Amino acid sequence: MKRPKVIAGNWKMYKTVAEAADFVKKLAPLVAASQPEVLLAVPYTAIRSARDAAQGSKVQIGAQNMNDAREGAFTGEISASMLLDAGAQFVVLGHSERRHIFGESNQFINRKVKRALKEGLRVILCVGESSQEREADQTEEVLRKQLEESLSGIEEKQRLIVAYEPVWAIGTGRSASAEIAQQTHFFLRSLLGEEVWMLYGGSVKPDNVAEFLSQPDIDGVLVGGASLDPESFAKIVQQG
Ligand code: PGA
Repeated sequence: MKRPKVIAGNWKMYKTVAEAADFVKKLAPLVAASQPEVLLAVPYTAIRSARDAAQGSKVQIGAQNMNDAREGAFTGEISASMLLDAGAQFVVLGHSERRHIFGESNQFINRKVKRALKEGLRVILCVGESSQEREADQTEEVLRKQLEESLSGIEEKQRLIVAYEPVWAIGTGRSASAEIAQQTHFFLRSLLGEEVWMLYGGSVKPDNVAEFLSQPDIDGVLVGGASLDPESFAKIVQQG
């Protein structure tokens, strides 16, 4: 099955309200004629300004996390309906920085995925093994568990995107080889089926993106560092 590519950026904790609007205004004309879908996961505070700046363009704006509860006494948390209200069209869930720095479990992520889909957001669910797990030959076992537990009880696949991001490749400049990425995506495809979009993430740059996008089971990429500059992100989108 041939799917339109998805190129997603994840800004992490970078960019103010004004910087976000400025970025989107610069990016939009650079990607207007490109094939792929273009998604940008921005800080909560910049969702509204980024969405306003993206009006009339193909750039979709989303968030990088949310809480699973509908509302309640959860100081400092943000709900799915608040994200929608601010203009978000999708949310990234289970990013390895959330799992490792903030201790998020598959069970918590599962509740978030359910909530996000129920409220009408698209979801980019991230999974990935650590370097120790890969060296110990546990990659498939770890990914299977992450997927089974994070997606437990979820039938909806239309609005689900899964991003495979090996932990050892995130922010390290050491991307997986296209061959390893394809092998792992092939395994994930066997668990997820044909209708789920699957992105590779981890040190994707303008000069290595083409090799990932040419693999049969890679439907796009999730880009951290190289999504912070509009020209570099546009160069990635233009190869999709
Ligand atoms: P990176 O980050 O592109 O900077 O490696 C990827 C990610 O964290 O999604």
